[in-house]
Amino acid sequence: MVNDPEMALQYQADVLVIGSGAAGLSLALRLADDAAVAVVSKAALTDGATLWAQGGISVVLDPEDSLASHVDDTLNAGAGLCDVDTVRFTVEHSGAAIDWLIAQGVAFTRERRPDGTVGYHLTREGGHRHRRVIHAADATGYALESTLAEEARTRPSVTVFEHHLALDLITGAKLGLTDNRCLGAYIYDRQDRKVKVFRARSVVLATGGAGKVYLYTSNPDVATGDGIAMAWRAGCRVANMEFIQFHPTCLYHPEAKSFLISEAVRGEGGRLLLPDGGPFMHRFDPRGELAPRDVVARAIDHEMKRLGSEYVYLDIRHKSPDFVKQHFPNIYARCRAFGVDMATQPIPVVPAAHYTCGGVMTDLRGRTDLLGLYAVGEVSHTGLHGANRMASNSLLECLVFAEAAASDIRADLVRASPPAELPEWDESRVTDSDEEVVVAHNWHELRRFMWDYVGIVRTTKRLQRARRRADLLTHEIAEYYGNFRVTNDLIELRNLVLVAELIIRSALERKESRGLHYTLDYPQADDSRTPVNTVLVPDNYRARGRRVSEDR
Ligand code: FAD
Ligand code: SIN
Repeated sequence: MVNDPEMALQYQADVLVIGSGAAGLSLALRLADDAAVAVVSKAALTDGATLWAQGGISVVLDPEDSLASHVDDTLNAGAGLCDVDTVRFTVEHSGAAIDWLIAQGVAFTRERRPDGTVGYHLTREGGHRHRRVIHAADATGYALESTLAEEARTRPSVTVFEHHLALDLITGAKLGLTDNRCLGAYIYDRQDRKVKVFRARSVVLATGGAGKVYLYTSNPDVATGDGIAMAWRAGCRVANMEFIQFHPTCLYHPEAKSFLISEAVRGEGGRLLLPDGGPFMHRFDPRGELAPRDVVARAIDHEMKRLGSEYVYLDIRHKSPDFVKQHFPNIYARCRAFGVDMATQPIPVVPAAHYTCGGVMTDLRGRTDLLGLYAVGEVSHTGLHGANRMASNSLLECLVFAEAAASDIRADLVRASPPAELPEWDESRVTDSDEEVVVAHNWHELRRFMWDYVGIVRTTKRLQRARRRADLLTHEIAEYYGNFRVTNDLIELRNLVLVAELIIRSALERKESRGLHYTLDYPQADDSRTPVNTVLVPDNYRARGRRVSEDR
């Protein structure tokens, strides 16, 4: 990592990794022996969805299980839209990914088996036909993220920039060069409020998902879809943005900020109950509480609307208090803090936006449409999840694709020369904003209408209404962005509204219900033809590898 003393705001690395969750940190560590890596992260290093992951990571370890069964379950959950090669690739590399994590020091929960041997405890989650989820109690993400963050901080070749927010990618095309590759990014330093230039041979988007586009979400504040928006503006295609996964069970409490109650609670036999105590999942799916998430979230939404209820219950009281406290120590403590003792009381729960299945299109090496730009983790669309992600497959995807992208980048390092000095951020025509209220108001309005009109159950009319509102906000925000100095909230809002628009456009294009996309106007899957992905193509898209000059 070089900080150019002549150019106070120019930084150079071999590889620029934007984001420090499971995807970004594992990729940085995989490359640490071969390259100077800059990791920029818009909040503290460990802030992100990874830190909050509860259930675990899917991997075949049970002797009764098989890779073929993991592949089949993933394809079933994905409702006809998974890419089979991607699914096989991911599942086949899952064992090595877990071994690597263990070698880094992640301490997964172990158990003593009836035959006296000790092995890793595997839990169950929706869609999995076997116990297949390795975990660290109910705080798998914390174990993983804190271990990788600690390791990253010790590696001299990895330089960490916390509170640095990537604003836009710098591409050859934007600079009028004939060679259109990604050269770096403009990064907003949130502490000294300056926009810096980071240049690199390879740039990796590992910015996570976009849950904050919805009013209620299990996601942390950083999940504003920045990577998807940046890649789109740089000319990359995005796919399947209509498939937003709503997690069925977040704690219902005005101050809980959508705290997740892991699917593993249902995996261990937790039942969903109506406010009067009656079960209902059997009426919706023979798999009951362990049906895939789209089915369970829709069933809860249906029952809540039917009864005018604000929540349903999740009940694990059939297990002993000791079991509950031992298996779910964090969830237990958090519920207790909100006045619910889950060992003796059912937990009030509601669905909330949880996972962005679509994203920036990549190949099996994490490469996007733009040379030199990779996308790894929740920001990407690799084809693994199809129309519905199976539980605990996402951390796995982060790890497997981080390794694949790292191998490709390593090979490319010898070929790609470091970019020359890049133009600095131009602030000559903007002033400080005098109306911050516009940003706060639009932020809330966007998340509210996305929840109301583009949520679990959709209609064409609601989507069109959302589109009109998104268009209005887009114009207002563009004007604001053009006139005022950037701030953290403005950068995120600009991205959120773009991602909202991509979600709405994709949802309008899909004239059927499939997986996570459910519309009352087309309530069935269209089985008259082979299911297709919704691929959105930006106006400035150029097929990978084609030179800008070829278009002239
Ligand atoms: P993240 O971990 O979200 O990291 C994104 C990083 O990018 C952060 O460091 C963020 O600060 C940074 N960033 C974002 N934008 C910018 C920007 N513009 N500039 C600079 N930095 C930026 N999946 C499972 O497989 N198993 C589970 O048990 C599980 N449980 C979950 C529980 C919860 C509550 C949630 C929210 C998700 C869960 N998931 C689970 C999903 C899984 O955690 C995520 O998909 C995964 O962690 C995403 O990792 P990531 O590295 O892609 O992104
Ligand atoms: C959970 O623990 O329920 C979350 C698992 C996931 O999102 O994969």
